[in-house]
Amino acid sequence: MLRTRKTRSSLPNHPPRNLTVATTGASGSLFLKHLLLAVERDQRVRTVNFIASDSALRVMAEELKLRGRSNLVSQLIGKPARKIHQQANADIGANVASGSYLTDAMVVIPCSVGTLARIANGIASHLIERAADVCLKERRPLVLCVRETPLNKIHIRNLYRAADAGATVFPLIPAFYNRPASLDVVAREFAYRVLAHIGLPQPDAYRWKG
Ligand SMILES: Cc1cc2nc3c(=O)[nH]c(=O)nc-3n(C[C@H](O)[C@H](O)[C@H](O)COP(=O)(O)O)c2cc1C
Repeated sequence: MLRTRKTRSSLPNHPPRNLTVATTGASGSLFLKHLLLAVERDQRVRTVNFIASDSALRVMAEELKLRGRSNLVSQLIGKPARKIHQQANADIGANVASGSYLTDAMVVIPCSVGTLARIANGIASHLIERAADVCLKERRPLVLCVRETPLNKIHIRNLYRAADAGATVFPLIPAFYNRPASLDVVAREFAYRVLAHIGLPQPDAYRWKG
């Protein structure tokens, strides 16, 4: 039978200018840090709306020794941000909660299996899940950098559900064939792969030449 249901998202016909970046309570804050550094630097990107869950703050405190929610973006990128605007996860009236606000793509990095479950099942009670829900309903790219191991059947079902609804499941699994010299290189190259996937290839990304 011919499948006519359109669940695939399509990239805008220009490099994404307006991005939503969310972070949740899974391990891997360093990957978020490198993604934010890259988008802050990338002149094609004009606006980044950034949302952190409460659990993300707990993990960032553990992994990056960050303290609290104030100046979170500056703490992450080591300088005041020019285009990254932090939104409160409780504020379901923020711009990205509406389909009429033109986000080009959304990345959740790292994405906990709790947030995955809420997105995959349409439970949009906080801004992160609502913004993701909006991307799916508007057929905009949504990239979920899920991190958990091992996976149980609930996680696997939710990964399938999210992918079936149009999200890209982009597990937080780095590459090693570039022989990274540090964790920063591992995280930066992964962040670059995510950005290339949404139409923002980075000039200094490692490229396999065979
Ligand atoms: C140090 C630390 C590491 C964690 N790592 C993970 C992880 O890798 N994956 C995951 O799904 N949850 C992880 N968790 C648990 C989540 O933070 C927890 O389930 C939380 O409720 C997720 O909330 P959120 O999805 O709203 O951010 C971790 C928690 C802590 C404190």
